[in-house]
Amino acid sequence: MGKKRATITAVGHYVPDRVLTNADFEKMLDTSDEWIRTRTGIRERRILDDGGSSDLAAKAIEAALENRGISAEELDVIIVATVTPDMFFPSTACLIQEKIKAKNAWGFDLSAACSGYLYALSVGAQFVENGTHKKVIVVGADKMSSIVDYKDRTTAILFGDAAAATLLEATDDNSFGIQDTILRADGSGGVHLHMRGGGSLHPSTHETVDEGMHYLYQDGKAVFKVAVVGMADVSAEILERNNLTGAEVDWLVPHQANLRIIDACANRMGLDKSKVMINIDRYGNTTAATIPLCLSEWWQAGKLRKGQRLVLSSFGAGYTWGSILMRWSFDKAKQ
Ligand code: ACO
Repeated sequence: MGKKRATITAVGHYVPDRVLTNADFEKMLDTSDEWIRTRTGIRERRILDDGGSSDLAAKAIEAALENRGISAEELDVIIVATVTPDMFFPSTACLIQEKIKAKNAWGFDLSAACSGYLYALSVGAQFVENGTHKKVIVVGADKMSSIVDYKDRTTAILFGDAAAATLLEATDDNSFGIQDTILRADGSGGVHLHMRGGGSLHPSTHETVDEGMHYLYQDGKAVFKVAVVGMADVSAEILERNNLTGAEVDWLVPHQANLRIIDACANRMGLDKSKVMINIDRYGNTTAATIPLCLSEWWQAGKLRKGQRLVLSSFGAGYTWGSILMRWSFDKAKQ
């Protein structure tokens, strides 16, 4: 029997109700709607007031399960991409397993920041492809508001809270599903984007809190320079090694960190803007959730259709980056 191919068979997402607009930031910080829109593409983001990333994720997974028409008990594995776990342990996956009553599933958390979803999708696909597991849920969930310093205008305006889940199963038709994957890492980038406090190196103390080490730190300019090239390079590379041109791609599904990074990536791939999924204006950067959130919204709207060719691309802390090429295998109406 040939190797199976993994494909996404359901999507679901959850965003909290509270909206934090650029106008709200104008009242809190020395910034302007105009600066934020032109430099990032963001207009507003969602904020979770009560609960943690597991609550966002549980709701996203439940939506995906409902869309697929299966119960949580049918899940075999739960993989959670997050940099904002509810706590160090137990894992967010275990907390979610209990919340959704997925009593037959095991699971784990995976940390790769904004590339977390691509890393997790690739890992989840292995379980399906080698035939050991049938139903693997991959969820990107981040409550970025829990690690953002709302006094720092250079990072506060960028991030939002969300979760989105995708179910992976085997496909009989190998022309669908995940076709190719490129994943990269460069640990030398850690100095420009990190959260130093609270880990084993700097356990939380009054001093670490006084120094703001429990907040996300980013040298935006340094990250921008590498991200804009890195995400475009890897997206072009996956096309090239599969003998594809931009014209043969139906959707670029980019990580939503900055509209200028997304535009540069699309240009490099020779893609028209109409083929790029963009929702950064409404949600900001939701870290591991951005890419599946796009997939879920576009599928909901009936714009993501069976047979379409997708390139998923990301760049984030680590540095971590990558691209996944896939062919979409289900329409909304026919599910
Ligand atoms: N409002 C007004 N002015 C601001 C703001 C703000 N919110 N933030 C910064 N500025 C100012 C700066 O102080 C600076 O002023 P100065 O010239 O007087 O010093 C000026 O605007 C320009 O600042 P830059 O940092 O150069 O602005 P830039 O155009 O680079 O935009 C941004 C900043 C949006 C953060 C951009 O650098 C970026 O998108 N970086 C990459 C982000 C990314 O991809 N991260 C990876 C994923 S995140 C993850 O993995 C968790």
